[in-house]
Amino acid sequence: MGGAAVLSLEHVSHRFGAVAAVCDVSLAVAPGERRVILGANGAGKTTLFNVILGDLRPSSGKIRFFGRNLSRLSTERRIRLGMRRTYQTSLVFNGLTVRECLFLALRGLGPRRFAAARRAAACPEMAEADRIAESVGLATVLHTLAGELSHGECRQLEIGMASVGQPHLLLLDEPAAGLSPVERRWLLDALRALPRSVALLMIEHDVDLALAIADRVTFLHNGELIADGTPAEIASDARVHDIYMGKHAH
Ligand SMILES: Nc1ncnc2c1ncn2[C@@H]1O[C@H](COP(=O)(O)OP(=O)(O)OP(=O)(O)O)[C@@H](O)[C@H]1O
Ligand SMILES: [Mg+2]
Repeated sequence: MGGAAVLSLEHVSHRFGAVAAVCDVSLAVAPGERRVILGANGAGKTTLFNVILGDLRPSSGKIRFFGRNLSRLSTERRIRLGMRRTYQTSLVFNGLTVRECLFLALRGLGPRRFAAARRAAACPEMAEADRIAESVGLATVLHTLAGELSHGECRQLEIGMASVGQPHLLLLDEPAAGLSPVERRWLLDALRALPRSVALLMIEHDVDLALAIADRVTFLHNGELIADGTPAEIASDARVHDIYMGKHAH
């Protein structure tokens, strides 16, 4: 696969005992690309993210980041190279404000080490935290505790926290899950506001939202990549249609 790709997977598989969660998946994500991963529950989407970030080791296959083989690198090293992710369940710090959560993400601190940093009010990171809050649509809730945000605002904050430090690749696991139609629109705005210096790989069940943002779509079924193309190609793919219509269901 081309060396120009931000991320490339070469025949990647992951098994949980007898369950082949990811089977022989190959794909390449171009710089700045917006790629959506579609697939039913249990298709292997989250497992694929875990393997990409190093939370799980692939059973076989290679993962490259700008051509570099990641096999021996820890999750922490991958993050330092410019990979980030959000999780299917929220990971914000409920007892801190929006500004403080972003500040923590910028400093790369855990909440326990935050007490001392909290007193250092006016510093470049604070200004940067405010700028990120604005970019993800949270400028009006800077001083609200994360635990008091709406579900949609929480998702926007997670995206803000994951996008600090100019990453090259951002993996989002179902960012629109459980959001109202209005919250989805805000989320879409926040995603569209992300700079093209970062490529997005996004798991999404909402096909309308997926197709509204995607340059390319990857469709997984029972761990296998069964379609990969532009939104128009995926929308007219007979196998994708059959699976969505239930004709090939398990
Ligand atoms: N830790 C685990 N141990 C054993 N099996 C697992 C584990 N995690 C996932 N699986 C199995 O691997 C397969 C893929 O799961 P995965 O969570 O990757 O799917 P998904 O596409 O993210 O689904 P969803 O849309 O529900 O989030 C499923 O059959 C699941 O039961
Ligand atoms: Mg999942």
